[in-house]
Amino acid sequence: MPPTFTPALRLWSGLFLAAVSLSAQSAPATPPVELTKDAAKLYAQFCVSCHGENLEGGLGGSLVDDIWKHGDGSDEHLTRIITGGIATLGMPAFGEVLDAPRLRGLVVFIREKAARAREAGTNYAKPLDPDAVVKSEAASFRVETLATGLGVPWSVAFLPGEEGLLIAERSGALRAWRGGALLPEPIAGTPKVWAEGQGGLLVVRAHPDFAQPGNGWIYLAFSDPGEDGTAMTAIVRGRIRAGRWTDEQEIYRAPRALYRKAGVHFGTRLVFDQGYLFFGIGERGAQEQAQDLTRPNGKIHRIFDDGRVPADNPFVSVPGALPTIWSYGHRNPQGLAARPGTTGDGLEIWENEHGPRGGDELNRIKRGGNFGWPLITYGMNYNGTPITAETARDGLEQPVIHWTPSIAVCGLDFYVGERFPGWKGNILIGSLKQQELRRLVLEGGKVKSQEVLFRGIGRVRSVQTGPDGLVYVCLEDPGRVVRLVPAQ
Ligand code: HEC
Repeated sequence: MPPTFTPALRLWSGLFLAAVSLSAQSAPATPPVELTKDAAKLYAQFCVSCHGENLEGGLGGSLVDDIWKHGDGSDEHLTRIITGGIATLGMPAFGEVLDAPRLRGLVVFIREKAARAREAGTNYAKPLDPDAVVKSEAASFRVETLATGLGVPWSVAFLPGEEGLLIAERSGALRAWRGGALLPEPIAGTPKVWAEGQGGLLVVRAHPDFAQPGNGWIYLAFSDPGEDGTAMTAIVRGRIRAGRWTDEQEIYRAPRALYRKAGVHFGTRLVFDQGYLFFGIGERGAQEQAQDLTRPNGKIHRIFDDGRVPADNPFVSVPGALPTIWSYGHRNPQGLAARPGTTGDGLEIWENEHGPRGGDELNRIKRGGNFGWPLITYGMNYNGTPITAETARDGLEQPVIHWTPSIAVCGLDFYVGERFPGWKGNILIGSLKQQELRRLVLEGGKVKSQEVLFRGIGRVRSVQTGPDGLVYVCLEDPGRVVRLVPAQ
């Protein structure tokens, strides 16, 4: 039986509609139901009239001159002012209009603009000419080109004595550099790699006891092709005889079912210590899997350097957890190195990783630590919308420092040699986006200062201290391996 309306009901619903349209008429300035999440649009809507098109100031002060009148310039200070306003000066309170993630987005947006304004007024060294001497804070150096005509060089391995270098190219080619020249043919028979997107032959390293009789192991970390266009980071070792890759052994491979289709966030870098091997895998574009201990992605792993799994790893007794996991909650590790003078139980592994838009991190890796991605982050989405308002949470590790805006960190090493005494114990870090090499001065567990050694001669893929005390850098566009040599 079809429903029928009584006249009374009809009358009631008519009144109801009239009431709704009346209230809409009397309040034409009702805010839009869905406020944009895009930080740039929020700024244009709410802030531009007083703080200016380029945040240079107007009725309100400049937000890009690093001069802060109402606090210390920290994220907390900015958030507090934007939330609560400064009634006496005419800075409105936005806490009722903007929720915490949107407030966070605005802070990241202000940081980006301030960095751009700062950079516009700075002259960075750009040592393209091989004779150009860069006079930096603690050392003068030249940039010497060792090899050109490469594809995308991702890392180098130092071999003893006259044996020179091995250079990993993203394409999968493993090249030998010996006697001052690049050998024309790549090493034959190296594993097939998935060289698409951010994948490829990621790392080449010689075992620390390479020169000992019976060793001679070379490690390769790479994007390993699975089925149906999937891939995951894997590690093998082998030896090189007469220009050929031989004796290959599998050191780490995730179960094939856990390989992923995404072309991003493969991570890696290798650290050897007392028979252990540490390495990182990025979250492969699946943010939430960085928190999932049944997945290899988004983790730092620890195995023995022959591939066996240590029985005392932190998650071996957690049901379902992968036993190789050492720490988790990582987005995309791009640098991993042991602090000089630390080893065994006192080993300090430092790592850097890509944040999203903002929030690149320098971390001190902790056994069993959760480094928070994507539950907490100092960055936002690439489209300018927030990921979360949270930058810290109990039980989650904080970075030592973070870069907002992102510099796209890539590569990390400690300086340990004798050739640059002023750099001893410093961290060297490369940057893809800014094409920089940075030097970080540490004081205990903190970063005391940062210096940009050079900028603008190519995306920096890796930086490594050589056994000769010189600093080796892989650059892209065009692919080159260079080294920093002391100059007067
Ligand atoms: C009606 C004008 C007006 C608008 C709109 C406005 N501000 Fe302000 N803002 C001010 C004034 C005035 C001050 C105080 C300036 C001073 O002391 O020199 C201020 C101060 C600030 C400060 C503190 C600066 C410091 O030196 O400590 C921040 C941060 C800030 N505003 C951010 C924002 C953001 C973000 C928005 C948009 C969501 C916004 N403001 C919108 C007028 C405005």
